[in-house]
Amino acid sequence: MNYQEAYKKLEEYGQLHVLKYYEELSKEEQETLLTQIEQTDFSVLALCEKKETLNPRGKIEPIGVMELAEIEEKKEEYTKIGLEAIKAGKVGAVLLAGGMGTRLGSDAPKGVYNIGLTKDVFIFQRLVENLLDVVHQAEAWIPLYVMTSDKNHDTTVTFFEEKDYFGYNADYVTFFMQDMAPASDYNGKVYMEEKNKMSTSPNGNGGWFLSMVKWGVADQMRKAGVEWLNVFAVDNVLQRIADPCFVGATIATDSAVGAKVVAKNAPDEKVGAMCLEDGRPSIVEYYDMTQELMDAKNEKGAPAYHFGVILNYLFRVKDLEEIVARKLPLHVVEKKIPYLNEQGEPVKPEEPNGYKFEQLVLDMIHELDSCLPYEVVRNREFAPIKNKTGIDSVESARELCKENGIVL
Ligand code: UTP
Repeated sequence: MNYQEAYKKLEEYGQLHVLKYYEELSKEEQETLLTQIEQTDFSVLALCEKKETLNPRGKIEPIGVMELAEIEEKKEEYTKIGLEAIKAGKVGAVLLAGGMGTRLGSDAPKGVYNIGLTKDVFIFQRLVENLLDVVHQAEAWIPLYVMTSDKNHDTTVTFFEEKDYFGYNADYVTFFMQDMAPASDYNGKVYMEEKNKMSTSPNGNGGWFLSMVKWGVADQMRKAGVEWLNVFAVDNVLQRIADPCFVGATIATDSAVGAKVVAKNAPDEKVGAMCLEDGRPSIVEYYDMTQELMDAKNEKGAPAYHFGVILNYLFRVKDLEEIVARKLPLHVVEKKIPYLNEQGEPVKPEEPNGYKFEQLVLDMIHELDSCLPYEVVRNREFAPIKNKTGIDSVESARELCKENGIVL
């Protein structure tokens, strides 16, 4: 793209300020900026104006959940089915590690964070160790696909290499990168991060399968015979990954996706709750939870929206392939975005100062025909690290690790 074309594109989207420093740049820097302008989808920036009405909700109704008692009854049967699938190489795991972890406030990728007290216990290490439990049980390696972003790819890969993959078989670990999206101020004007670079942010965790396709990883996975993908977040240090019983239950019930859920600890807890939306499986986010929904009861007389998702899903690959071309809703999320101030000096804000634009994995559930919400014991499998202290923090996760006999 040449300067004139870039000018025209920016003018169309009201973003001409991006060229403010153009004349000061070296030839090479100018090229970098022009390429970024060419590759950026500026149309998303207009969404911040209608962010309240962006994703209207359909009719919300309760969904059936496979609860602990039922799972306990069929544990042996499901575990056997799950282990067979794992042994046959049909199950892969996808670690979503492209996020910025801004709430934790560390510049490094979240998985590099050390939660150890008497020894090193890195978040990545905890996850790999959890997966290794199943590898040993099944006596088979499980392919692990790790999604990173432009912001943390090199550090993540180097960290795994330096730590010798925490005992995992490197032949079964594949890294791929997600796409980036522009990040803007509250008026939808893209921020500049450097004089020749617009501020960008990873485009949410919803594009993971599309990124696997783009990177050729989906092809490789298909050839390896993987039929199910257990997608999980980087920050839950207690979660079971490729959990044989969960895998077996999802297969046995012929579900397009299984979703691990936990009993919410309060009706207004900040987790998305499983539901039906216009008759299809879906997740109602905590900020869409009305008082009416919080008070609603199901046919058993129990709270109707009592089970929250923990970002641990088992997707059937053939169903993913059918939905991959569909556009997921975009969410406008308030974040802290590093930028250049009026004087052209870099600023790292302490408070949110604008928007990033994200697609979310939870919206994929609504695209699928069937979903098995599968309950797990909260204190055994849910220790998310979002913040340094307080709720869902390093502190609370350490307590939960202790409760589960994990030495830190
Ligand atoms: P979060 O919603 O906690 O976002 O991600 P975050 O960016 O990591 O953290 P904050 O909000 O800035 O503090 C949930 C999971 O989705 C992944 C994260 O790495 C985490 O595993 N994720 C999130 C991505 O892989 N890509 C993204 O663009 C966003």
